[in-house]
Amino acid sequence: MYIALLGRQPALGMAELERVYGTVRWFSHDTALIDTASFDVQRLGGTIKGGVVIRELGSTDWRKASMQLVKLYTDKWSDTSGKITVGISAHGFTIGARDVQRTAHILKSKLKNRGINMRSVPNEQPALRSASSHHNKLGLSPNKVELLVIRGHNGNVIIAESTGAQNITALARRDQERPARDAFVGMLPPKLAQIMVNLAAPQQRDVTVDTPSPTLLDPFCGTGVLLQEALLLGLHVYGTDLSEKMIRYSRDNINWLQNKNQFQGQWQLETADATDHTWHQPINVVATETYLGQPFGSPPTKEKLAEVRHTCDTIITKFLQNIGRQLTSGTPLCLAVPAWNDGHDNFTHLPLLHKLNQLGYQPVPFSHVTAKDLLYYRPGQVVARELLVLTKI
Ligand SMILES: C[S@@+](CC[C@H](N)C(=O)[O-])C[C@H]1O[C@@H](n2cnc3c(N)ncnc32)[C@H](O)[C@@H]1O
Repeated sequence: MYIALLGRQPALGMAELERVYGTVRWFSHDTALIDTASFDVQRLGGTIKGGVVIRELGSTDWRKASMQLVKLYTDKWSDTSGKITVGISAHGFTIGARDVQRTAHILKSKLKNRGINMRSVPNEQPALRSASSHHNKLGLSPNKVELLVIRGHNGNVIIAESTGAQNITALARRDQERPARDAFVGMLPPKLAQIMVNLAAPQQRDVTVDTPSPTLLDPFCGTGVLLQEALLLGLHVYGTDLSEKMIRYSRDNINWLQNKNQFQGQWQLETADATDHTWHQPINVVATETYLGQPFGSPPTKEKLAEVRHTCDTIITKFLQNIGRQLTSGTPLCLAVPAWNDGHDNFTHLPLLHKLNQLGYQPVPFSHVTAKDLLYYRPGQVVARELLVLTKI
């Protein structure tokens, strides 16, 4: 069993886990347990760290949990040769960084008594930042370990060994260093793009010559963020956009990605209006951040909002009607569509959300999150992205 530490909007990470792994459940408001034999945090946009569960301690407090941890790892590492680098991260306890440091110190001196050399990664907070975990390569080899001590909503505590943290350096590089960026079409964060690809195409895969990989279509591809993440996740991609400039941007960005990363998937791009285009087949998966209307720095007037909402609703409805005629039944889709925040977390949604069935699509049911949880936004942002996870009927 694995435990996942979820990102800033835990429901999005939970939906992704549920879709990819099936058997998952909440452990606390931002952690989830996953019943799986293998777990790769680098393939997930909504999980910050993952770890294999080593011990379930039942309901306990930090002091008792840390004593058990010291005992467990003094015994477990008593035959280790060479130096061990250890980070300890506590989640869900009302303690400070010093409490965690103290536990690390006790473990270090107990191991020293047994002739084992331990280096501890200093905590600035009770839990190590994922950048620090990643930088120290914790969880990536037997001698570099991060112990996760996590308290669930029922008071039960789990000790897990991290199997790695999200590579936020690589994610930030893909976000900030790609050559073609355009603030006006929006900047889909790569993590959200990964979540969307996984919501649409949940099977874990590695493209090899013998395994045909699905083709993912992004019909509003813009600068190609979603296409890039899908290529890195092992899919073939097909991007189209109304704007020639955006197709050029996507091409520049994918060429740049190809110079920096290895991927086997093929890619094709073309200029096309998503409301009436006929795409080449096969299209196995659709994932796209649709037209979101103009960006707003502050909530628009009622009239302006009605106008933008109508424009977006018309374009996206026409697109769904058009592509619906070209998809085979059962094709999965993940769309990010706009919803507008009035500044108090009251959202205005698109009218088409009530017509999805009529348009020939069925929402994918989730057991652990509700549809209204699948809303991605930052504080102060007016235009939120509402994720629709659908199947073509
Ligand atoms: C929110 S942006 C998508 C940004 C993209 N996710 C990225 O990585 O840059 C929406 C895109 O839809 C395109 N668009 C608007 N109307 C369209 C239409 N009718 N058909 C195809 N693309 C359209 C715009 O040119 C814009 O690039």
